[in-house]
Amino acid sequence: MAATYSISDLVGDLKKICAACHSDHDIIARVRPLAQRAAASRELWLDKRFYEADPDQGFGVYLLHEEPDHTLAVFAVSWLPNRGTPPHDHGTWAVVAGVDGPEKNEFFERVDDRSRPGYAELRKIGEKVFSDGEVVALPAGAIHSVWNETDAVTVSLHIYGKHVNHTARSQFDAEKRTETPFILKVD
Ligand SMILES: [Fe+2]
Repeated sequence: MAATYSISDLVGDLKKICAACHSDHDIIARVRPLAQRAAASRELWLDKRFYEADPDQGFGVYLLHEEPDHTLAVFAVSWLPNRGTPPHDHGTWAVVAGVDGPEKNEFFERVDDRSRPGYAELRKIGEKVFSDGEVVALPAGAIHSVWNETDAVTVSLHIYGKHVNHTARSQFDAEKRTETPFILKVD
């Protein structure tokens, strides 16, 4: 497929979709095929430097776009071998397309009553490995973890309703049953 769908094409379409849609489910259904198109056009935006992931964080986060009010954030994220994230939510809708290499996602639901600050009980409800061109679409509140089980750096394209450092979202420790803020180091 010819690489014809740029990040600015994607952002233009995201603006139209968000102006016309009112639910996360509506939005992510329409963003899903656009994420696949942008991933298939990776030669237009995928820079070699995006493969340099942060060794402390375990992954590298590269901002490709956000609006002045932090909405419609697009990132390239690279994952070091055998590294990933703890379970987390996003505080907004999320659509992630595989770009280079498979990434394992585990999905969780929250089973406590949310009455104790800093306390959270999670139950795993599924898992799936997403490869190039496959899409993970999550409404606000959905909880997942990401892990690179391969021996090579993987890359995915992440599209969020709002930059996730501005949504007061959380990470979770399923064994210790904790909920804490989740802030990314972004390049
Ligand atoms: Fe995520």
